[in-house]
Amino acid sequence: MTAELIDGKKIAARIKEDLKKEAEELKAKGIHPVLAAVLVGEDPASKKYIASKEKTCEAIGINSIGYKLPKSASQKEIIELVDTLNADSRVNGILVQLPLPKGLNEKEIMSRISPDKDVDGIGPHALGRLVLDDPGFIPCTPHGVMKMIEAYNITPYGKHAVIVGRSVIVGKPLALLLLRKNATVTMCHSKTSNLKEECLRADILCVAVGKAEMITGDMVKEGAVVIDIGVNVTSDGKLVGDVDFDTAKERAAYITPVPGGAGPMTIAMLMYNTVLAAKMRCS
Ligand code: GUN
Repeated sequence: MTAELIDGKKIAARIKEDLKKEAEELKAKGIHPVLAAVLVGEDPASKKYIASKEKTCEAIGINSIGYKLPKSASQKEIIELVDTLNADSRVNGILVQLPLPKGLNEKEIMSRISPDKDVDGIGPHALGRLVLDDPGFIPCTPHGVMKMIEAYNITPYGKHAVIVGRSVIVGKPLALLLLRKNATVTMCHSKTSNLKEECLRADILCVAVGKAEMITGDMVKEGAVVIDIGVNVTSDGKLVGDVDFDTAKERAAYITPVPGGAGPMTIAMLMYNTVLAAKMRCS
């Protein structure tokens, strides 16, 4: 079997088209969606992500304001910037790009973002609402994964979903979203003793660990849906996921490519949350 490709880029393009129309409607009512994006330091991947987010904002008609702070920026300086953005009524959404340089307290900074501007959806308020199944900002990457699955009419109901990676940004919220859709969810992580066996039980296998091509075809159940959320650069500069695409695609029924899968969906869902934040302000 060769898997059908889940085209994240195409689904993201559709979502962005809809958001563009929504942003135009908001602007006609005098509401201009504004995203403030904070980058601290010079991490090359973070710089790339921020540039891509800013470009997408422009394409949709969201006003993006970039704040670039040096690697030496103090905790206090970043907190003060977040406070200023919280208080600025023109700003609908605030994004602080992670990871922050060593020595900074990420948790304190992310917690400082006002809940009604937390378009990343990874602050304590948004995550609490997610646990409670209350409406709110859903973290962008897991939300994008759910939208990709939905676009291919894959229903998690009653299926066994296995998630490899327990991060706050991806693994944990994705487990909650899949539970919400009535999947049975297994969480795997670096201390899981029988990873291969767990993966082989997955109808839906989602991988977000940041280890290049660690999930190989022999760990994929015949006919599974494989969602690769990893982004890794190999020593020869190639972008690869956490799944070994060539061997996994021979066993899976559906598979996401890297690039062109979860990545574009994350950005689309950030835009979705920013437009939502602007709408909430006027409702
Ligand atoms: N770094 C990697 N992914 C993310 C994300 O979704 N949000 C933020 N703020 N930083 C990230």
